[in-house]
Amino acid sequence: MRILIADNAPFDVQSGATVGDAEIDALYASTDPLLRLNFVATLDGAANGPDGVSGSINSDADHQGFAAMRRAADVLLVGAGTVRAEEYGAAATPIVVVSHRPQLPPSARGGEGIVLATTRASGAQEDEGTWLCGEDTVDLATVVERARQAFGPHVLCEGGPTLAAQLVAAGLVDELGLSWTPHLVGGSRGAHPRILDGVDVEVDLTCRHLLEEDGTLLGLWRVTR
Ligand SMILES: NC(=O)c1ccc[n+]([C@@H]2O[C@H](COP(=O)([O-])OP(=O)(O)OC[C@H]3O[C@@H](n4cnc5c(N)ncnc54)[C@H](OP(=O)(O)O)[C@@H]3O)[C@@H](O)[C@H]2O)c1
Repeated sequence: MRILIADNAPFDVQSGATVGDAEIDALYASTDPLLRLNFVATLDGAANGPDGVSGSINSDADHQGFAAMRRAADVLLVGAGTVRAEEYGAAATPIVVVSHRPQLPPSARGGEGIVLATTRASGAQEDEGTWLCGEDTVDLATVVERARQAFGPHVLCEGGPTLAAQLVAAGLVDELGLSWTPHLVGGSRGAHPRILDGVDVEVDLTCRHLLEEDGTLLGLWRVTR
């Protein structure tokens, strides 16, 4: 992986120098509590590939950044649409799944460390693995706060676009990790959403770093407030 820009790197940066996992981990580390989004997109802005999942548009370099962001996280926050599409199961990091429904999607049921954050209207009962965080819709500030109290300050949202747009609109997002992989998929926005979908937002960001490998660009941006 080549480092192109890293103004906030905790080590001396030579633009164009090769970096390994230790430096990549240092670039994604944070001492402050954080809600970070992580997405991969094609060069034409699609958040999924021809098969409707992101596995067909990612790359080895994207996997490296994805793994580093997971290592930096205390808890993952994921929308139920992504869990259904990508068949999420248990991971080394606890996962909170946001849904209106009373049960986790099938792939996540019974998975250790997976919590369902849902609504009172769902009819679900509150317990250790089921958090009621709103009446008709999950209040995202509440679920983020509960996730922090239960698991720790660094929250990584791995999508999808519907959840991510609401988090940004609610002012809850601090950083965006985004990989552009060298693919084009065309098609319609309905079939291939962008990384934020459904809610209008108006947000500016500053670049913290930009890395490159085999045509994949990995960026990290900070929301300016
Ligand atoms: N490129 C990437 O990095 C990336 C990352 C993630 C996902 N994706 C792709 O994105 C697509 C899925 O998109 P998506 O927008 O459907 O994903 P999503 O945001 O993960 O899921 C939307 C679902 O999350 C639940 N939800 C979201 N906000 C809620 C709220 N405030 N209260 C209660 N429930 C809420 C609802 O689930 P219920 O229907 O259960 O109520 C809603 O239908 C897939 O193609 C996936 O592969 C791509």
